[in-house]
Amino acid sequence: MQAIPVNLARSLLFFAACIPAGYLLWQINANTLSGDHGEAVQQFTGTWTLNFLLLTLCVSPLRAITGQHWLLRLRRMLGLFTFAYACLHLFAFVGFNHEFSIAAMARDIVKRPFISVGLAAFALLIPLALTSNAAAVRKLGGRKWQELHRSIYLIAILACVHLLWQSSFDELPRALAYACLLGVLLWWRVQNRKQKATPAIPSRQVQAIRFYDKRPD
Ligand code: HEM
Repeated sequence: MQAIPVNLARSLLFFAACIPAGYLLWQINANTLSGDHGEAVQQFTGTWTLNFLLLTLCVSPLRAITGQHWLLRLRRMLGLFTFAYACLHLFAFVGFNHEFSIAAMARDIVKRPFISVGLAAFALLIPLALTSNAAAVRKLGGRKWQELHRSIYLIAILACVHLLWQSSFDELPRALAYACLLGVLLWWRVQNRKQKATPAIPSRQVQAIRFYDKRPD
């Protein structure tokens, strides 16, 4: 893909990724959110944080399967949208649900321990968001940067635990569907790493095989 279509894909992705937030704002403004508003905002933003997190993890397998290398250039934006929706989700908890009362938040965290798992996932997202620019890659060096950004797998596992832990019996199928999707994405990465780690046949051996293949019997 040429430079302009990649830029176009990026712009389209940017607008598409803003749609859920825009829809939420519209619902708040039109007062059409169902049930408890704080809870609805919390659920909506949590769902979209997880959607963007898993979409970010889909980029590498999609690139490998389709051979469309330009897809990698969308990954950073997807990662940053994950962080942006996570910030909205945290803000819903702090501002909407607890009106900035530290005591009320602490009580809720003790009462619902799955919130601590969400907090851990959020804390791990911060360094990834802060080092998502090219300057940070240069400063850290490629290898260190990659090692740091591997924590995305732990974040995704924590996010699925956070969801599974809070799900009631009828909400379990959805939580399990997310966990299965994450399982497939992690399994693909393990297979991919194993394949890369398999040493290629040294060229001298290849030549010997070719030589014996061509010899008349
Ligand atoms: C990467 C970080 C996080 C992800 C991916 C995430 C994801 C989710 C998801 C998918 C839900 C379920 C939404 C639904 O039922 O439709 C949820 C709910 C919730 N999350 Fe998170 N979360 C994260 C971080 C946090 C943080 C930092 C907090 C608070 C400090 C938090 C507090 C909550 C609460 C209280 C709910 C329950 C809402 C309700 O049903 O009342 N989460 N989260």
